[in-house]
Parts: sequence; C-alpha cells; structure tokens
Amino acid sequence: MTTIKDRQFKPEKLFQPRDFVQPILSDSQYLEIGAGKGMHAMQFAEQNPSKHLIAIERTRGKYDVFAERSKTLGLRNLTAIHADAIPWVVHALPPQSLDGIFLLYPNPEPKNSSQRWLNMPFFEFLLSRMKPEATIILATNIKDYADEAEQLAKEQWQLPVKRLQVATDSARTHFEVKYLARGEVCHQLELTKPKGYQTAFDRWQQGNAQA
Ligand SMILES: C[S@@+](CC[C@H](N)C(=O)[O-])C[C@H]1O[C@@H](n2cnc3c(N)ncnc32)[C@H](O)[C@@H]1O
Repeated sequence: MTTIKDRQFKPEKLFQPRDFVQPILSDSQYLEIGAGKGMHAMQFAEQNPSKHLIAIERTRGKYDVFAERSKTLGLRNLTAIHADAIPWVVHALPPQSLDGIFLLYPNPEPKNSSQRWLNMPFFEFLLSRMKPEATIILATNIKDYADEAEQLAKEQWQLPVKRLQVATDSARTHFEVKYLARGEVCHQLELTKPKGYQTAFDRWQQGNAQA
C-alpha cells in the first residue's frame, strides 16, 4: 500500500517565493498558515506580546485586508506574509524553529484529499520545522476532515492528539464566526510533536546540501 511518505516531498525543487525576505525568527516563534484576513493572527499577537507570529495568506485580496489592518495596529510581534506557505516554509525556516502552528479552517479540498495538510508529503517537512513538544492547532467545521486528520495524526504520523469541540462563543476567525453563527459544530485537534521525534528532513536546510 502506498503511504504519504512514499510520495516524496522534494524541498530542493521549490523556488523561492516572489519578493521573499528572510525573516528574523524569535525564540518564541509561531506560524499560522491560511490566515485569511488575519483576525486570529491579530488577536494572538495582541494577547501574547512575548510571542512572535508569522501569518501567511496566499489569496491577495484577503492578505491586503490583513496587511492593512495589522499595519494600523502596529503590532511588532506579528509579521503578515503574502505567499504560498509551502515554498515559503522551505526557504524561510530552519529545522526545529517553531513553537506552534495554527491551521484554522483550512480549505477542505473535497475533490482532492491529497491536498489536505496531513495528507501531504509536505506535512513531514512541516513537522521537521517544529521544536520538540511544539503543537499544531487545527480547526475545522467538517467532521470527516477532523476524523481523517485525527486518524492520520495517530497512525501515519505517530503524534499524540487531543480533540475538543470549539466553544459556541469562540470567535477566532471569520470562518469560525460564520460556522458557529449557523449552529455548526466546529472541531479542534491539538497535535504534539513528541520529544525525540525524527523526520527525513531534520537536517535539511535551504542553502545546505541535503544532509
Ligand atoms: C477557508 S479559508 C480560512 C481563513 C481563516 N483561517 C479563517 O478561518 O477565517 C482558508 C485560507 O487558507 C488559504 N490557504 C490555503 N492554502 C494556502 C497555502 N498553501 N498558503 C497560504 N495560504 C493558504 C486560502 O487562501 C484561504 O484564505
């Protein structure tokens, strides 16, 4: 049977995103992928002044709204990035650099399950960029997506998982507000990278030959 790891991720094939700037990373570094208009990112940065968040959004219109609002707020611990997160992560982040990752209401990719985050070979690369005991918070309004991600986390990626139902008065993102207002149940998974966890990319860093 073909597993996700058999579809090899090849970071060396990915071009640097347009207008790429190498970020200065913090000792307490968080990453949000698919930040939309940045509602969660701005809340997080305001509430966690000692943590730095890089929040990436690929869609130009949403990113522009996010960038404009975050500029107005002047949050020094928030960096908004307009890019596809996959090549950006490959070019920007060394191994074991992240304390936490947010994947809040990712596109469900109903017709293309191989594009869901835990189903992608890139996910192993993303795990390699996390410090031991760092966490991924994944939220979705689609029960099947949460079920699949929970199963993949446990069986494919060997990650401990905590699952909970998002509180009905939670308001972290525009999509969360919309789904909860419609009375939908939102699911959250917290995945932890165990100490001693190994990936194929633990020594891979842009600019260095593959170790
Ligand atoms: C369903 S929206 C959710 C937005 C926001 N997190 C929220 O909950 O309101 C998913 C977002 O992820 C972004 N996205 C999807 N794949 C991405 C990628 N590879 N890199 C950056 N952003 C991505 C899309 O552009 C879209 O804005």
